[in-house]
Amino acid sequence: MSLFRTKNIDAMLAVANDDGLRKVLGPVDLILMGIGAIIGTGIFVLTGTGALTAGPALTLSFVIAGIACGLAALCYAEFASTIPVSGSIYTYSYATLGEIVAWMIGWDLVLEYGLAMSAVSVGWSAYFQSLLSGFGISLPAALTAAPGSVPGVHTVLNLPAMLILLVITWLVSYGVRESARINNLMVLIKTAVVVLFIVVGVWHVKPANWHPFAPFGASGVFNAAALVFFAFIGFDAVTSAAEEVRNPRRDLPIGIIGSLAICTVLYVIVAAIMTGIVPYAQFAGVDHPVSLALQMAGQNWVAGFVDLGAILGITTVILVMTFGQTRIVFAMSRDGLLPERLSAVHPKHSTPHVATWTVGTIFIVIAGFVPLNVLAELINIGTLAAFTLISIAVLVLRRTRPDLPRAFRCPGVPVLPLLSAAFCLFLMAHLQALTWVCFLIWLALGLAIYFLYARRNAVLHNHGGKASN
Ligand code: ALA
Repeated sequence: MSLFRTKNIDAMLAVANDDGLRKVLGPVDLILMGIGAIIGTGIFVLTGTGALTAGPALTLSFVIAGIACGLAALCYAEFASTIPVSGSIYTYSYATLGEIVAWMIGWDLVLEYGLAMSAVSVGWSAYFQSLLSGFGISLPAALTAAPGSVPGVHTVLNLPAMLILLVITWLVSYGVRESARINNLMVLIKTAVVVLFIVVGVWHVKPANWHPFAPFGASGVFNAAALVFFAFIGFDAVTSAAEEVRNPRRDLPIGIIGSLAICTVLYVIVAAIMTGIVPYAQFAGVDHPVSLALQMAGQNWVAGFVDLGAILGITTVILVMTFGQTRIVFAMSRDGLLPERLSAVHPKHSTPHVATWTVGTIFIVIAGFVPLNVLAELINIGTLAAFTLISIAVLVLRRTRPDLPRAFRCPGVPVLPLLSAAFCLFLMAHLQALTWVCFLIWLALGLAIYFLYARRNAVLHNHGGKASN
């Protein structure tokens, strides 16, 4: 069955060692890269809606979403340490579940990372404009948002969102070391801002605000978990840097699990403090919930710092999403599933510059012209689908290639990976019907492209179409 042909893992490892990408990243870079991708719009913006959905039990929603990600992260870590090549779950499924599954999951990731690039840029734009207004500067209304996204206001495009994504695309095309350096600095700043919120906010908590704890019951808690899941998206981007890591077998698991653990602890504390300062119902219509809490506590100067930190924090999310996106497109192109030009490596900067600019241009346009709510809907479902697949794939690889050296082994096999898949499907079931419809349309489009283009142009096809393992 050529649809299910798989790539030879040993050959993939050989290519990864000789692909022209520089091996410059270490474990600290990876943890910072993970935090860079994780803490962003989710904690700074979506916690307000999360608190309205779950009440103070939002803390539990974060724990549930964190557990789902943690289980998937253990599966990711095993794969990342076994097959440290570019392309994340796409590559892993090509080695285990077969080409058509790999294509579909790669196609799914193109949606997830791409829309995240655009969506998070739109969130950045909102904070940026708010900061400007603090200095009494406002942009012409036409340039502030996508058409139709502000009721009663004639808007044409979201210029700040387009410009920030343009700058980030340039950074990523310029070189990984430069990108990682800027990322590291910004991550330190935004983590400091989150810690500042905790240290200042904790003195203003009124425990009475935590009662009733779960006003909307279990369904409120689960719906909020499916929503704030967005806040955890990004740790998987660490794996997409696999070919640029000095010691991937050891460092990738450290990067994934370390960044996820740090963020989960911070989120739970932030959610508890926020809902402890502000009665949850007062978050209606608020898109700066973290700074609102500080303002209500009378800490206006700290609130200003938090706004600035949010801007920097969200910038790093765009950076890592763009990085992950370009590496997946690069890997799919190298396999012949996307046009060959996309895997060209820049002779001087050693980066996949054609893939970077192609992807960047598409999602710069989307960031300018598509409203945030439309973009955000699809991101969670795409990610949860990817996590479900990686959980199953870890079991498949244990069966098909028990011999492969695994620097990190997922504990509790098969229970833990099955639990991970079940958790992800459960959260998917809490997303809206419209989200499911859009997602299925995207997958159908992907299948059409697979049969019309990718299948025939695959490197595996041109080598006789033999299934190899
Ligand atoms: N986790 C990322 C964020 O919250 C996507 O912005």
